[in-house]
Amino acid sequence: MKTKNYTIFNKDSRELSKFIDADSIDFIVFSPPYWNLRNYGYDGQIGYEQTYDEYLADMKRVFHECFSVLKDGRFMVINIGTVVSNDGMKLIAADFLKNCVDVGFIFRKDVIWHKPRGTTKWQRGATQFSQSPYPLMFNTNINHEYILIFQKGKKEEQNFKDTPRFNKRFVRKVCYSVWDMPPVNSPKLDEKHVAPYPEELPRRLILLFTFKGDKVLDPFSGCGTANKIALELGRKTIAVELSRPYCDLIKKKLTAVKFGSYDTEDIYKESEELTAKLSRANMEKAYKEYLKHKKIFEGTIKKQNR
Ligand SMILES: C[S@@+](CC[C@H](N)C(=O)[O-])C[C@H]1O[C@@H](n2cnc3c(N)ncnc32)[C@H](O)[C@@H]1O
Repeated sequence: MKTKNYTIFNKDSRELSKFIDADSIDFIVFSPPYWNLRNYGYDGQIGYEQTYDEYLADMKRVFHECFSVLKDGRFMVINIGTVVSNDGMKLIAADFLKNCVDVGFIFRKDVIWHKPRGTTKWQRGATQFSQSPYPLMFNTNINHEYILIFQKGKKEEQNFKDTPRFNKRFVRKVCYSVWDMPPVNSPKLDEKHVAPYPEELPRRLILLFTFKGDKVLDPFSGCGTANKIALELGRKTIAVELSRPYCDLIKKKLTAVKFGSYDTEDIYKESEELTAKLSRANMEKAYKEYLKHKKIFEGTIKKQNR
């Protein structure tokens, strides 16, 4: 499906260069299907019923395709976590990094996406450790993922004449290598299995790596989070997704977006008053979150003590 500002391809991202022109994309962002984790319910999906090596090989094909459709000097960002398996943990980020460099990307930065305590579920390993808290029993609740930033070739000289500057508040928020962002815990029912990333993640990245009017690609679009954010920020976007029902979801989502409608005052406007207003609003939001999680936590403790 194609409109003026977005295109949705119900296709396989291992074959991007068959339907997207070479050197035509300004920015690529995605969270791939994880190895061995989820069945999205159709044939041909990457990660499901594959050995780890088959999974890595398929993802390498995708990196290769991404390299071919991306413009020179531009960036690709991958969001990926670590996977637990019976024969040891898989630090997928490390294997992706090696494979991206193999296909020609330059590795530029890694950022840790930190999911603040209380915003993720307790995981089995950590529960076992808390029930048997002895040496050698150590285990963790995994509450971080990686954001890997790659570039195709070197940066072009830029002329920032007509580009607005980020304000101090935004720069302070992004210029440390750990980003605190709550995950999406209870997406709508029809998006439940997609494992969407929080909107804040693609928003920060799209702001940091594109200009207005640029073309943003998500090759594993899921329910279209990155595409929606791109449109709201006045960027054109391409969604690639192999699941037909998810493509329908993406279409529904993108049809409802008004191009360039995101209020960027808190990103560009430099004002002490605004900074104070936003930090007050953030504190109120954080306090509400705290109360919510306190209640859940107290409920769990009560149940355990019964
Ligand atoms: C982790 S989800 C992406 C979630 C997305 N970031 C969002 O916010 O909604 C991974 C997606 O990749 C899709 N997928 C799996 N194999 C694919 C392939 N070969 N080509 C295109 N999409 C694929 C799955 O159907 C799933 O929707």
